[in-house]
Amino acid sequence: MRKKVILVTGGAGEIGTALIDELWKQGVRNILSLDIRPLPLLDFKVTHVLGDICDRPLLERLVAEYEFDTIFHLAALLSTRAEFTPEAAHRVNVEGTLGLLQLASDQSDWRGKPVLFIFPSSVAVYGLPDLATKAQFPRVREWEWNYPRTMYGSNKLYCEMLGVYYSKYYRQLAVERPVMVDFRAVRFPGLISAFTLPSGGTSDYGPEMIHAAAQGHPYACFVREDTRIPFMAMPDAIRALLQLAATPAEKLSRRVYNVTSFSLSAGEFREWVLRAFPNAQVIFEPDLRRQAIVDSWPEDMNDNDARRDWGWQPEYNLERTFTEYLFPNIVQRYRST
Ligand code: SER
Repeated sequence: MRKKVILVTGGAGEIGTALIDELWKQGVRNILSLDIRPLPLLDFKVTHVLGDICDRPLLERLVAEYEFDTIFHLAALLSTRAEFTPEAAHRVNVEGTLGLLQLASDQSDWRGKPVLFIFPSSVAVYGLPDLATKAQFPRVREWEWNYPRTMYGSNKLYCEMLGVYYSKYYRQLAVERPVMVDFRAVRFPGLISAFTLPSGGTSDYGPEMIHAAAQGHPYACFVREDTRIPFMAMPDAIRALLQLAATPAEKLSRRVYNVTSFSLSAGEFREWVLRAFPNAQVIFEPDLRRQAIVDSWPEDMNDNDARRDWGWQPEYNLERTFTEYLFPNIVQRYRST
């Protein structure tokens, strides 16, 4: 008998560690984590496999041993990083996802029940051509402005489409239709964790600013003060993933949902940081190339469908994110290091 598990790819990443932590707190023990990096020190023991999602023989070995009931496919190269190595990003972000979708489809058919495949997509799938258009369309719907200008955004958008394909149309000309994977995705805004820092993203200026201030380090923000994009506290991101995973299929009217919490400019971000760390030194030194990427992302995302279909609502608005989540935990974090 194969052991039934929840597979978390990118288990050692920012979202991965927070998700595994939450699953464990909820009493879930059958977690299998996969990442090219070792898991950071956790207070508990999760089965962790060191390896690459593109390593097909490795995946085959895992399939021989485990039955994947749910897959949280979080492994990816983020937007800034991907621009330096676009082909490597495509390999991991697209080919890696394709391999896992195929594996999930085979398992769905073999066991006669869909594997649940949860995928974090991103605000990076949007691409507004200029600032005037960004101002004119401040709160985008899922199907609007899907013209990403980064490799990462293109990868995420295409993988959403692959996910829909594998859950609705896979082998559509076969005489006997296989049991297909149950793919569901959320498009996240920039995520901010009190405990970890992102690496290689373009919304990283937010978390970097506050973590630098908490450590007493000066920070040069790489976007203009008036740059506005949506953000979300990490606990809400984890709730969104788990809530979407737990929703009965008949309630879902789409497979890809926007979710967000609050939008603020980099200048307003600095004001919030200064409230808790009045001596913080934050200056603005825009990097024109990274700026252009963030300028193409919308100010806000319309997440009405997630609210209507599965009751999505962030617990942390702007004020709570800073005062109840970020500040206390970040102060604590750097006090103890
Ligand atoms: N935070 C991500 C990035 O900046 C967007 O999904 O790449």
